[in-house]
Parts: sequence; C-alpha cells; structure tokens
Amino acid sequence: MIRNSTFRLWTMLILISCACSSPKPSNEMNAKINDLMTQMTLEEKIGQMNLYNGFWEVTGPVPQEGAAADKYQHLKQGYVGAMLNIHGVENVRQLQELAVNESRLGIPLLFGYDVIHGYKTLAPIPLAEAASWDLEAIQQSARVAAIEASAAGINWTFAPMMDISRDARWGRVMEGGGEDPYLGSKIAVARVRGFQGDDLSAVNTIAACAKHFAGYGFAEAGRDYNTVDIGTSTLYNMVLPPFKAAVDGGVRTVMNSFNVLNGIPATGNTLLQRDILKRSWGFDGFVVSDWASGNEMITHGFARDYSHVAELAANSGSDMDMESYAYVKHLKALVDSGKVDISVIDDAVRRILKVKFELGLFDDPYKYCDPDREKDLIYHEDHQKAVLDMAKKSMVLLKNETKLLPLSKEQQKIAVIGALANDKNSPLGSWRISSDDNTAVSVLEGLLSYTDQVTYIKGAELVTAETTFRHEAPINEIDKSGFGEAVTLAGKSDVVVMVLGEHGFQSGEGRSRTRLDLPGVQQELLEAVYEANQNIILVLMNGRPLAIPWAAENIPTILETWQLGSQSGNAIAQVLFGDYNPSGKLPMTFPRSVGQVPIFYNHFSTGRPDATEMVFWSHYMDESNSPLYPFGHGLSYTTFNYSDLTVEVTGSAEVDVQVAVTNSGQVAGEEVAQVYIRDVVASVVRPVKELKAFKKFSLDPGQSQTLEFKLTEKELGYYDNEGKFIIEPGKFEIMVGTSSVEGLTGEFVL
Ligand code: BGC
Repeated sequence: MIRNSTFRLWTMLILISCACSSPKPSNEMNAKINDLMTQMTLEEKIGQMNLYNGFWEVTGPVPQEGAAADKYQHLKQGYVGAMLNIHGVENVRQLQELAVNESRLGIPLLFGYDVIHGYKTLAPIPLAEAASWDLEAIQQSARVAAIEASAAGINWTFAPMMDISRDARWGRVMEGGGEDPYLGSKIAVARVRGFQGDDLSAVNTIAACAKHFAGYGFAEAGRDYNTVDIGTSTLYNMVLPPFKAAVDGGVRTVMNSFNVLNGIPATGNTLLQRDILKRSWGFDGFVVSDWASGNEMITHGFARDYSHVAELAANSGSDMDMESYAYVKHLKALVDSGKVDISVIDDAVRRILKVKFELGLFDDPYKYCDPDREKDLIYHEDHQKAVLDMAKKSMVLLKNETKLLPLSKEQQKIAVIGALANDKNSPLGSWRISSDDNTAVSVLEGLLSYTDQVTYIKGAELVTAETTFRHEAPINEIDKSGFGEAVTLAGKSDVVVMVLGEHGFQSGEGRSRTRLDLPGVQQELLEAVYEANQNIILVLMNGRPLAIPWAAENIPTILETWQLGSQSGNAIAQVLFGDYNPSGKLPMTFPRSVGQVPIFYNHFSTGRPDATEMVFWSHYMDESNSPLYPFGHGLSYTTFNYSDLTVEVTGSAEVDVQVAVTNSGQVAGEEVAQVYIRDVVASVVRPVKELKAFKKFSLDPGQSQTLEFKLTEKELGYYDNEGKFIIEPGKFEIMVGTSSVEGLTGEFVL
C-alpha cells in the first residue's frame, strides 16, 4: 500500500509560516463574483446555499426517501452548491461534470468531507494530537491529511473541531483539543494552517471548517446533542476563543451546531452567527449548518415547520444548509413574501462563491481530480512517516513508579494481554470514514518487530460482534473464559504488557458514556493478571479520559496511547523500548470517578474551598476533589528541574517571565513548560488557574535552558459578561512548571 514515488515534491511537508489572515477578495475576484451574481436567478442563488449528502455514505440520520433522484436533477439545474461524502477522483469528477457541463452557469461544486484525522493514512485522533502540545507536528499532520484528501477529489474538510469540553462522558472529546481555550486556540490555528496552507488555490490545500459554532462541547450530562445552557463568562472566555483564533487565522468556513445554546438553537442563532462571528469578528467566509441541524430546530421547539426553519436559519446567518432541504424548498417563497430579504441571500452566495474562487475552482473545476495524483499520494510513504512522528509525540506517560519503562532490549519474556493488543482497527479511532478497516499496525506487531520474546494471549474479548462507524460497539460484559490462560502466561513472564481501553468506535459522535471505567470485563482481567504478576505495564487505548483509580493505585506503569492511527503499534513499541522518550501532556483532566465530572483545572474558587473539621466546605463525602491525573500532566524517562523564576512587569499590560529548566536525568527528553496565571481580584471572578503560555523543547542530560515568555494584553485580560475584553489592574499569581499542579510560583501587580 505504501508508495514511493516521484511525486515527493507534492508531499514535501513544508511548514507554512503564513500570516494567515482571511484572504481579502481581490478586485478581479469581486468583479467576477458581481458578474456571476447578475446572471444568477434567485433559484440558482439559493442552489449555492444547498449542500447535499452523496449517494452512498451517511454521517447522520438517513436522508429522505426519493432524495437521490431529486439530487441528480438539482445538480443539473444548478440548485446545488456543494456535496458531502463524495470522495475518490472518479466520483468527484462525475458530479463536478454534471454541475459544470449541464447546469446553466456551470458553477463548480465544493466537495466537503470529514477529514478529521487523515484521509486514508490516519494520524492520531485529535485529542491525542493535542496531548503532544507540539504545534508544528499538529500542523504537519493536518497538512498530510489535506494532501491525501485533495488527491482524492476533496476540496473542503469539516475540520478542525474546536469545541472545548470538560466532560469525558461526551464521545466527541476525541475529536477536539481538550478542555483548555488557550491550548485549544493554538491547536485550532495550527490545524487550519495545515489544511489551508498559505495558498488556498494550490492543488494540495483545502478549505477548513471551524466547528461546531458554538457550545456543543458543553452538552448537559455529556450526552451528545443535548442542551447547552452556559453563562456569558463561559461562552466568551472558554467556548469562543478557539473560533476567534481560527477566524483571525483565516479559516474559510464555520459550521454551526446541533445544540440549543441558552434557549436558541445554534443554527438559528443571530447573536452567534451575525453579531459575533460576522459583525464583530469580521468573518468573511461562509457558515454551513450541521447535518440537518436546520430541521432539528422544529424538534427543539423553535421552528414551526420547514419554511420557518429556512427563514430562521438564513436570517440568522447560516449560509449553507446541509441535508435539511429547507433552503432549496422554501427560501424562494420566503424571499418572494419578504420574510427573507434578498440581501441575506446575496450575502450568503457571495461568501460561498468567494471560497470557490479562492480554491481556484473557477479556473479549473477538476483540479482535484487527477487520478495519477490520487494513485501516488494515498498511503504515501512520507505520510506514514509523518503520522508515526505524530503518534510518538501524542503518548502520555501517566505513571512509571518502578521504572518498568523503558523495557530493556535484553532478552526477557514479555506477556502481551488484552483484546486491543492485537486489534488493527481500534487504533484507527473514530471519525475515519474513508479509511480502510484493520490497517493500523497493532501493538503486538510493533512489539514483535523488536523481539521474538513476546507471547500473546487475548484474555477476553472486548466486543462481541463487528462494529462500525454507524453502529454501537456491543461490549463483552460476561465472557471470562480466557482469563485462565492469560493469568498462566503472566505468571511465567518477566513483564506483562496489558493493552486495555475502549474500542475504536466507543468514542466519537453519538457515543456518550455514563461510565468512564475500562469497559466490559477488562478491569477484572487486569486484577486477575495482577495476582499472578505485578510487573504490569498498562497501555491504555481510548478516545477520552478514563476513570481508573484502581489501576492508578496498583499498576506501576501506565502509558496513555489514545488511538494513534495507522502507525500506532510502531509508535507504541518505540516508546516501550525507549527509542522515543514520551513527551505528551494531558489536554484533559482524568477524573477519579465519573461523579466528579465535569472536572477541569481552570475552575473558579468556591467560597469554601479549604477542608475544615466540620462538613461545611465544598467537597464530596466519598471522593476527593482532586483529579486522578491533572491537566498538563505527563512524565518522561528523564526528569526536569525548574529554577530561577523571574517575573517582571514591563508595561501597563506586559509581563516578562523567565525560568531555567535543567534535564536532571540520564537521557535526553522533551518537556512542555507551562505558564499559568490567576487574576486574584476581578470584577467578574476569574479561574484559579489559566494556561497563558507554553513551550515544548528538548534537553540533553545535564543540559539547562532559560525560557522566556511574554504575557501581553491578550493573555492578561478577559471577557466581561457583556462580551467586552477588559484588562484590570491588580494582583496576579503566576505558576510556571511541568503541569497544572506542579511548578514554581510568583506574583505580579499590573
Ligand atoms: C457532525 C459534523 C459532520 C457532519 C457531516 C454531523 O453529524 O456533527 O461534525 O461534519 O455530520 O458529516
């Protein structure tokens, strides 16, 4: 599958250092758009605002019956602006030809697709990538995804998802950057740059889509599609910053979301789409709805019928309708009756045409339809290297108490246990609709490439039947018949590598959980094996933070590997054998129990945070308040010593921070230094800690480096409850260190 080819140039993983502000439409482009607009009928304009699903794959509830025939007809009539879930050069060309050759004005289509963490060659799931805190690597990973997707005819990805979430029960945390708006914003920008490059008209760049606007990650009780009801402080300071950063970084499209936000569905939300996004932030790309999210406004109790859906969505700034059929059926009558002003339609259509121009589709509608390019670039060897690199950087060493890791390369008997150890599908993770099943390197394969002293026994099945992206994973809750064999093997081995966690389709859309433990009989298997051999290295494979207090207490070594994509097993083996020193840090808090959720590091203080003899303080009777593993936590095979913190106020809103870091261990390693502040007294209370800067760097043993950070207005201010950004003078606390709970502290006064 891996091809070495002369097309290396195309795949050169050039890091793009672009200023990346939204491309302003040139005069020439404006003139062309004006010209086209004058030729378009109202129906054709509305057609541009219509996004249809393709004919084979679905990523939402199955479309209406008979829709396919309409779709072909509408394509020929010019009543379709974009398609989703069509991929592969041949398929894309076929439909593009219909639009270009058979419709009156021949306006080319956009082809959107969920290229979430790769097209065929898969990178780690986004939450795992976020754990790398390595913005260059994350950008490169999106670049690879764009190269492969564009080679398969796609010109628009529905990524990156930038929903901040504090709730590990929500299955879609796997798709985002975790719980923190600062880290989330940096990642959002890196991913947008990776997809879009610095020239959207290049053949290997695609339009990105910032989603889901907004608040989707705050679904009540972590249940997907559930209501979101949050205060303005959370909206402006937690939810919106990654979107603002992506808009400032030039993202060309934004997707709204399924949820109701404070009583108003996002798809019909004027405050979000018109006031904040378009007016205040000056976003000049277009907004697409989520899959039939327009129609869901009826179910929410916000719209009366499909016509009302079209009226509310269009007027509030949702420019393109995905799979609701509401615009194509009702917008014309709404314009005719004056309920939707023609200026609303014109504005939406201009935005959509602009993105098509920027992509170069008017110059060559078939530019993404080169079969040679497709053949040469899918599964390209360079892409495998890039995703391997990303995978290594994404792992987080949670615990290594007895220094079982790294494994010695000397002969020793290694038992490998757990269904996920020999699974070539789960490491690919969720949201990978174009990928080929069972194409990941398994952990077992990775280990066997190092040594033949490996014996594998499954111990127990994780799922009882094959599972797919569209259907839930049936978990084995009963069958423990394989335990005996696994325990016997463990007893005869020097060390046991247990690979446990979630099936690849246990997280993702529609996959919320009420429990965050090891699913099925895995916890029992772990405890049974522990009785026979305590030298266990627990390799976790999962799409969300887990609550594993027993393991954290008893198992000496725990490596979080998430779902690492195509090169999973190779990356894991390199870490286990010490050829790569783990450097990841948690982008999301791990709870002790699900009852603590939502648990996150940047919470507010209560009025009674400290333990007292009496019960009247903010706590649980049956669990501590602290997390199992905090945000920013991650160990290395070496140690880093922080010293000499200096903090100097250099302007009314400018602070210089310096800290020295020394590699105090025996091997080279990478560290992520993290800077947290607290605005001690503010007119709207501020969190007890907020990440405001970080740096990832590597040091040889004994080597020291002085790091410098500058905090400016952007980092020192916050949004008040009217959404106004303010900086208030007064005392700030600062902490610089290796995680959100460990570091040197100081203070400064603005
Ligand atoms: C998801 C979006 C996705 C869309 C199209 C929806 O169900 O929420 O994130 O882009 O489907 O596949």
